[in-house]
Amino acid sequence: MDEVLEHILWLFGSRYGEPQLVIASPGRINIIGEHVDYNDGYVMPAAIDRYIWGAFSISNGETHIFAANLGREISFDINQVDTCDFSGWNAYVLGVIREMQRRGVGIRNFNLVFGGNIPIGSGLSSSAALENCIAYGLSSLFDLGFDRKDLIFISQKAEHNYAGVQCGIMDQFASMFGHRNNAIFLDTKTLEYEYLELDMKEWEFVLVNSNVKHSLVSSEYNKRREQCSEGLEIVKQHFRQVQSFRDITVDMLGDIEQLISDINFKRVKYVVEEIDRTQRAKDAIKQGKWQELGQLLTKTHEGLRDLYGVSCPELDLLVDKALQHPGVTGSRMMGGGFGGCTINLVRKDQIEDFSGYIIHEFYNNFTLHADVYRLEIVDGTGVVEL
Ligand code: GLA
Repeated sequence: MDEVLEHILWLFGSRYGEPQLVIASPGRINIIGEHVDYNDGYVMPAAIDRYIWGAFSISNGETHIFAANLGREISFDINQVDTCDFSGWNAYVLGVIREMQRRGVGIRNFNLVFGGNIPIGSGLSSSAALENCIAYGLSSLFDLGFDRKDLIFISQKAEHNYAGVQCGIMDQFASMFGHRNNAIFLDTKTLEYEYLELDMKEWEFVLVNSNVKHSLVSSEYNKRREQCSEGLEIVKQHFRQVQSFRDITVDMLGDIEQLISDINFKRVKYVVEEIDRTQRAKDAIKQGKWQELGQLLTKTHEGLRDLYGVSCPELDLLVDKALQHPGVTGSRMMGGGFGGCTINLVRKDQIEDFSGYIIHEFYNNFTLHADVYRLEIVDGTGVVEL
């Protein structure tokens, strides 16, 4: 058993007695399809073996929530959530409770200890994992009857309304619907999805965490969303056949350039090209063409850097240096941007050499330490059988 989970169980035992339910909710990677989940695009995430765990029981007194990583408890009556402080981690936990209550279901007082091993602020969706952990846990504990799709929308609303990020549905979906050894090809317009088996033979996805997080994340994220929808509105007025980004082809971009501002054109161009790339990436995976997939990843990075404007010098350096290593066939920043991880497609027998090399190069340039992670692709949010 993971030592973080062991610690959570120990804390629970010493504070609240026996847990009635323990939930594991994973973080995620995203292979390709970045910043398109709020633009009706396709994405290709997978759940990974980094988790938020929550141990729950029904309480006879007040609600007690203990954050193991912080060593801090909040206590309140479940009907007075609004009196709580919603800052930091509380926003996600209390946000989920409020969203459930808004749907009219009866949550009673409970005890919870939560914690995890997903590095925070690194683009691995620790917040979606936490939201899903709470949503799934409370739904099971009180038999609220929500299905997995209901739960991810509750989680997403908690993020919108309490954490202030107008995120798409990818992170919550990946964490909830993950499937061992498979990526998820998700259509964010219809929520139809397909599992793609990752039979990668001599290749592996390796993450490099820059450990930097620039404070722009939420404000710039929301701004990109606005720029995309502004651009799309104007395109719709000129092209009757266009209802969403999905109806814009790469060939139409030439005409669109005349219609909208330079900055919005860059955003639109990136989105249209990324939707196209993600579909090509699906074919590459199905055919086991890993080098082709690698090239698509690298193209995505160029788009995120030059057109979408969500990269940063640290991530650009990690990608440039990775691409100079003989074991690497593709590299890009991953997630919302402005820091966090890159995802790299690396030949298995070169991973050790690559790790030492990239840590060294990063330190030489920024005097900062990067971390390299190898991963397993795992199942989504669920109950831990003890
Ligand atoms: C964050 C958001 C997701 C998605 C990615 C970028 O992780 O939560 O919804 O938009 O950024 O692809």
